[in-house]
Amino acid sequence: MYILAPSILAADFKKLGQEVETVAREGAEYIHIDVMDGMFVPSISFGMPVIKSLRSCTDKVFDVHMMVEEPGRYVEDLKAAGADLICVHQEACCHLDRTINQIKDLGMKVGVALNPATPVSTLDCVLDQVDMVLIMSVNPGFGGQKFIPYTLEKVRELRSRLNARGLNVDIQVDGGVGLGNVDQVLTAGANIIVAGSAVFGGDAAANVQAFLKKFEEHVK
Ligand code: DX5
Ligand code: ZN
Repeated sequence: MYILAPSILAADFKKLGQEVETVAREGAEYIHIDVMDGMFVPSISFGMPVIKSLRSCTDKVFDVHMMVEEPGRYVEDLKAAGADLICVHQEACCHLDRTINQIKDLGMKVGVALNPATPVSTLDCVLDQVDMVLIMSVNPGFGGQKFIPYTLEKVRELRSRLNARGLNVDIQVDGGVGLGNVDQVLTAGANIIVAGSAVFGGDAAANVQAFLKKFEEHVK
């Protein structure tokens, strides 16, 4: 029911393949891949060649978070590199409806991300077209930042809007989530948890296990 999506931005790039294999083996169902273009966000991370080379490490879902201006330009390349789910920012797409459909037409799942200060209501028109909404709980661009508390209210609001419309859409939360606040995030209505430093900042295998235990306890 709940899914852990370790963000490889916080992994040791010297041994990225092994890091992905470790979290996959321990039970992370998604691998969260943060692509940054130095325009939509200040940093530049990695792109297609890295995604492509990691594809042989696991068959888990490659959840690609595009922190890129006009990500529609890259959906075919991402498909070829092995993406299963592409998440684009509402703020980065001039023609969001078109970009969503480009991704779906290529047979991938589609998510739309919202920066902390972007209201949930901006997605009302497309909620029934997406598989996932990503509520950013930090300003995108860097790992290891502090969770912004007001974003929890956005998660609650989004879950209630989805329920009111009978929509079964995943809610992902990304940024500053750790073992200390994951309960609050799940209670608010999220079901996919991104964690970068909280997974790769120490013993990744043990950290994945600890998150999965939290998930189990939450279901009880
Ligand atoms: C931030 C990225 C996140 C980041 C999360 O812009 O989208 O996925 O890696 O890192 P933590 O969990 O360390 O906040
Ligand atoms: Zn991310």
